[in-house]
Amino acid sequence: MLKEDLLYLLEKNKGKVVSGGELSRQLNVSRNAIWKAIKVLRQEGSKIESLPNSGYLLLEDSDGLSKQSISDHLTTKKIGQSMEMLKTIDSTNQYLKSLNTSLLPEGHTVISNEQTAGKGRLGRTFYSPAGEGIFLSVLLKPLIPIKEVTFLTLCAATAVCQAIEKVCGIRSEIKWVNDIFYQGKKLCGILTEGSVSAEMGTLDYVIIGIGINTGKIPEEVEQIATSLSLENQEQGIRNGLTAEVLNQLESIYHTFLNGEKQEILDSYSERLFILGQTVTIRMPEKSYQGTVMGLNDSGQLLVKDGDGNIHTVIAGEILLEGEKTHEPSKTRN
Ligand code: BTN
Repeated sequence: MLKEDLLYLLEKNKGKVVSGGELSRQLNVSRNAIWKAIKVLRQEGSKIESLPNSGYLLLEDSDGLSKQSISDHLTTKKIGQSMEMLKTIDSTNQYLKSLNTSLLPEGHTVISNEQTAGKGRLGRTFYSPAGEGIFLSVLLKPLIPIKEVTFLTLCAATAVCQAIEKVCGIRSEIKWVNDIFYQGKKLCGILTEGSVSAEMGTLDYVIIGIGINTGKIPEEVEQIATSLSLENQEQGIRNGLTAEVLNQLESIYHTFLNGEKQEILDSYSERLFILGQTVTIRMPEKSYQGTVMGLNDSGQLLVKDGDGNIHTVIAGEILLEGEKTHEPSKTRN
């Protein structure tokens, strides 16, 4: 597709002027076609300057998503090797579920520039405006017992933190089980969904949905949410970071499938900032307070209550001291 190829060429020359003639020669189309495609790319958020008599310049801080640029940075064998790039969708998780997943290869990845109904945990919405985040879903087909699904969220959270550290040089932290924080504010959420074969009692597939805030944060949530562009000087990172998240995810997924779970538990726990903190565990039927002691072998949270009893938290919401719960639909990230 011309638009994709053009963005890829400009990405490869980011920060440099490329003449219209050169672009039209390389892509084998007219200069007029190049100009039309440039206009569309601009509408989609790419920052491209046209310099009279010299050509086009993709600015260093331009952050347009490009399938080819992401592929160029991939070192994976499976994850992201089959990829769909969408301009807008209700939810990448929902979209992936609507496909015939049995015909898709493991590692198939859906990325969207925008989600109009991004889904969070516990029935919440995940605010996903165009160009302001990385919104992606990965299809996995692990042959594992259903009870181990939580572990895949641990893998994804660790992968995201490692990728952010590598690309942006900042150390993010984890709030069990699926939230990535930076300096006390939420930076990323993960939603793991699975389909169980009723006949076999096994997993058909698992979808790992990852949403990372990279751009603007609405005023009403800036006390509780942050983004990479607010915390980090690097601009135009979406393609590189998307690829690195997929690279890290594949590597950790293999570690998991090889049975080296302790390695993952260690990496995850190093970033688990709620360790030793007093938290409230909020479940539909009851809430209780306790001190976070760590994780068990399955990645479930161990919490000690005031009477010294140890509770194993499988699901539910963890509230930090002073943190309020967010009702579904009112919540953004
Ligand atoms: C949470 O914070 O509760 C989880 C948020 C997960 C958001 C991601 S964005 C990509 C994927 N598609 C969705 O609809 N949700 C996940």
